[in-house]
Amino acid sequence: MKVLEVKEMILEDLKEVNDLKILNDLRVKYLGKKGLITELNSEIKNIPNEEKKVFGQSVNEVRTLFQSIYDEIKNRLETEALNRRLISEAIDISLPSTKVSMGAPNILEKLIEEVEEVFMSMGYDVVDGPEIEEDKYNFEMLNIPKGHPARDAQDTFYLEGEEILLRSQTSPVQVRTMLKGKGEMPVRVICPGKTYRRDDDDATHSHQFMQIEGLLVDKDISLSDLKGTFLILFKKLFGDDVEVRFRPSYYPFTEPSVEIDISCFNCKGKGCNICKRTGWITICGAGMVHPDVLRMSGYDPEVWSGFAFGFGAERVAMLKYDINDIRTFYNTDLREIKNFDRGELENND
Ligand code: DAH
Repeated sequence: MKVLEVKEMILEDLKEVNDLKILNDLRVKYLGKKGLITELNSEIKNIPNEEKKVFGQSVNEVRTLFQSIYDEIKNRLETEALNRRLISEAIDISLPSTKVSMGAPNILEKLIEEVEEVFMSMGYDVVDGPEIEEDKYNFEMLNIPKGHPARDAQDTFYLEGEEILLRSQTSPVQVRTMLKGKGEMPVRVICPGKTYRRDDDDATHSHQFMQIEGLLVDKDISLSDLKGTFLILFKKLFGDDVEVRFRPSYYPFTEPSVEIDISCFNCKGKGCNICKRTGWITICGAGMVHPDVLRMSGYDPEVWSGFAFGFGAERVAMLKYDINDIRTFYNTDLREIKNFDRGELENND
């Protein structure tokens, strides 16, 4: 077939192509293995030498012509297809949306994280201990032997005989941590964790609650270090004007033992419902680690001294967020949880 004829056919064939499939068939017709342009190309070898150049050029021109019209149509058809798709898949952003309720961190978890941050900034590690504990760690090594009256105050869930129990306090983590230090390493830890007591649940009692235990063992530690530490913590939690005071108390594992109060952040000491008109709120039990407790865990009390404390995370969260029922933390009613989130939770209802 003559080059000119092929050229005219191309112009005719490609005049009104509106379909990508047809366009592709035409590509095969002209440029495929047995396509017309391909055939013209293979004819070059039969052309006398002096005409080869001109013939070759005209075949090339026809190929370029086909290619450029083909590209143009392909572009147009693809753009049209895309536009059609965009229109059919368009989203009407003015339609009302389905509301999705947002989650929020548990208020207790938030408080614990805040306490952890403060202590970590002072070089403390956050450590863990088992909730199923041995009597030895929960009581014996904390200076509370069998028959000691202090056991009565912590009505304990025993799991197997008299030796395995659900820990009634986070204090056993003190023992476990000191044992790891082997009487040689200073200790600086806090341990937030679940504790269990055979209490009937009511507004202020829960058979399972969170304690945050702290222990510092080093050289030349005194009660004033404990006081300074608590000032830093409670100023962060309740504001800069909070004061801390110690009252004498008794715990078998500390000597001396103290009860730590903070000045009422609500009435600033004048007397209100929260502080029961005393101006002070009791937060925490604490004291200097008892020499026997140090000794039992391998620390020589002649060389080492330390302080320890333990407080209920729920109690502090209840004060901070003005919650009056401890059960609020453990029921899963989102409406209640939202209530005390103080605007940090977006209200989607
Ligand atoms: N474990 C005590 C309790 O559950 C709280 C406590 C008091 C922990 C004094 C301490 C401490 O580490 O020194 O009542």
